[in-house]
Amino acid sequence: MKIIGPFIAVCVLACIAWLGTGPLSLYTLFGIIIPYLAFAAFIVGFIIRIVNWGRSAVPFRIPTTAGQEKSLPWIKQNKLDNPSSKAGVFGRMALEVLLFRSLFRNASTEKTEDGIAIGSAKWLWLGALIFHWSMLIIVLRHFRLFLDPIPAWISALEGIDGMFQIGLPVIYLTDLGIVAGLTFLFLRRVVVPRIRYISQAIDYFPLFLLLGIACAGIIMRYFTKVDMSAVKELCLGLVSFQPVANVTEPIFYVHVFLVCCLLVYFPWSKLMHAGGVFFSPTRNMANNSRAVRHVNPWNYEVKKHTYEEYENENWEKMKALGLPLDFEHVKEEEPPAEAEGAKADAAEGANAGAAEGAAAEAATTQDSEG
Ligand code: HEM
Repeated sequence: MKIIGPFIAVCVLACIAWLGTGPLSLYTLFGIIIPYLAFAAFIVGFIIRIVNWGRSAVPFRIPTTAGQEKSLPWIKQNKLDNPSSKAGVFGRMALEVLLFRSLFRNASTEKTEDGIAIGSAKWLWLGALIFHWSMLIIVLRHFRLFLDPIPAWISALEGIDGMFQIGLPVIYLTDLGIVAGLTFLFLRRVVVPRIRYISQAIDYFPLFLLLGIACAGIIMRYFTKVDMSAVKELCLGLVSFQPVANVTEPIFYVHVFLVCCLLVYFPWSKLMHAGGVFFSPTRNMANNSRAVRHVNPWNYEVKKHTYEEYENENWEKMKALGLPLDFEHVKEEEPPAEAEGAKADAAEGANAGAAEGAAAEAATTQDSEG
């Protein structure tokens, strides 16, 4: 059910768009209203998530690093793995986001008769990289539908992507890449027992949804053709807020409707790692803890009682017990006996004075009451 459920859900979504635009011809609903609502939901959802992450407290400097931290001048620092500057953090983050560096360094552990064997695990890195790069290039290529005239960089991207020119229309490498990447990511979850055990419906649903979008697009481009001038008219109209839905092929609406579902689902799903990676405090901070003192802003003033004070108060007992003392202590001089006698007289005098004062005060009170 963890696999079949999400698969059926995506099929149902595709059927809704097919029925809505085939027999029912609801082109305005599926071509204009739903895309606008989905885009708005995506933007609002994305902003909410980002603002929430941006506002959450990061009281500690907790970059997870590997390699040598910056310390003494003669110890070589590993500037990428353990960055101490913003430039280093940028480099580390760029390599992570663009090349999935941490995934590249993934290792697999296998139990053997002798113990545990640690080996290289590059397949996930390769599959993830192929899928993500293919998806990015496809989305960038799609801008040709929304821009007029088409910028040169999109034409260049199309040229590179279709450089093998196998058949007509030109087969894009990214079309093969996205399907291969997604298929690999799906099979990995099904075939590897440990991964299958921890995989849930929410892990399969985005894979099926993306696969559905890619397949609908591929069908549209290579098999059942669509009226591209009507598609372009609709896309340009959507951008300029004067949309006209003249496209009549249901496969186009299936493609677009699944994209709309993805847009609505994206901000609230694990796919948000695309934005969240930049807010990860274990990655977006420089590890300069040896150079800079980072004070937790939540720290309250602690009532201090230093060791020196403690020793001052107890040194005589400590000395008697033979405990080591860190500070020098001079015993306060006993006041001489003469001075002591004078002190006692003075105190007595003061007490007598106070008693006289009190008697006088009592008398005054009585007079006033009478
Ligand atoms: C997550 C977003 C999207 C993904 C992953 C995606 C994926 C694809 C793929 C893989 C293809 C096959 C051909 C190619 O690679 O160009 C395709 C074609 C197509 N897509 Fe998309 N698509 C997305 C969004 C959209 C949107 C928003 C529209 C229009 C509103 C659209 C309209 C089309 C059209 C008209 C084709 C056929 C292109 C042709 O025949 O050359 N797609 N899409």
